[in-house]
Amino acid sequence: MRRNLTGMLLLSILLLAACAPGEPEAQTVESETAEPLIPEFTISLDELARFAVDLEDSTLAEAMLVRPSEFLLLMRDVLTEDPDLFLIADKEHSLPADYRPEDLVSLSDFDLALNRGDLSLSAAIMPDLLAMDQAARNAGLQLVYSSSFRSYDYQKEVYTRHVAQLGQEAADRVSARPGTSQHQLGTTVDFGSITDAFAATPEGEWLAEHAWEYGFSLSYPAGYEEETGYAWESWHYRYIGRPAARMAELYFDGLQHRFLGFLAEHRAYFEERYLG
Ligand code: DAL
Ligand code: ZN
Repeated sequence: MRRNLTGMLLLSILLLAACAPGEPEAQTVESETAEPLIPEFTISLDELARFAVDLEDSTLAEAMLVRPSEFLLLMRDVLTEDPDLFLIADKEHSLPADYRPEDLVSLSDFDLALNRGDLSLSAAIMPDLLAMDQAARNAGLQLVYSSSFRSYDYQKEVYTRHVAQLGQEAADRVSARPGTSQHQLGTTVDFGSITDAFAATPEGEWLAEHAWEYGFSLSYPAGYEEETGYAWESWHYRYIGRPAARMAELYFDGLQHRFLGFLAEHRAYFEERYLG
């Protein structure tokens, strides 16, 4: 059924192209859909359509076929980013215990509002973080930084504390076991109060609307616990870079987890067809 829908959408797109004014020959349309969509990939609309029809996710397939060139332009930019930006740390994918970004910098060295003195993040994300902070200030708001990089050992302490307070089952809904926290990546920030009340604050609302413009993406949105593994966390944002955050917004319903899974599964397909 899903494939039929996507197939029908593809047919509609091709028919629309065939009926477009100034397109005299069906043959011309066929050859156009067989040409590369953008110079950096060998992929044509025909080929992207065949790829899309095979996807499980029909919403994604349809979005890709409605805006195929933009999808590939964003993919081109994603492929040139540091692959560590897209490492998966979740209930199914652990980081090595000694994983630690080499470029950690102390947030105390910047003009930021900190809830504690020992916060640090990867230097690579600081330009976009500072741009986002400044944009929030320009809007009359103050982002408050409450948690950032956590080592494997520190996450162990955090998780153990949650288990002691809540019991293991409840703890597993809100706290990652050591090795599986995005905080170990050094690219993740908890803002403000770290409570559900944060969502309704001006800063929480501003981040929900604008964080992706600076490459930050909400990791655990409301209503997706089954998919992401965690209850809603309106304060927990992971940096994945501007092209990836835009791609997650436009093609993956803003679901970072879905985007990262797609990229991990299909990266090789796009790399093989990338011309540089
Ligand atoms: N609260 C999130 C799931 C973490 O512990 O990384
Ligand atoms: Zn967090």
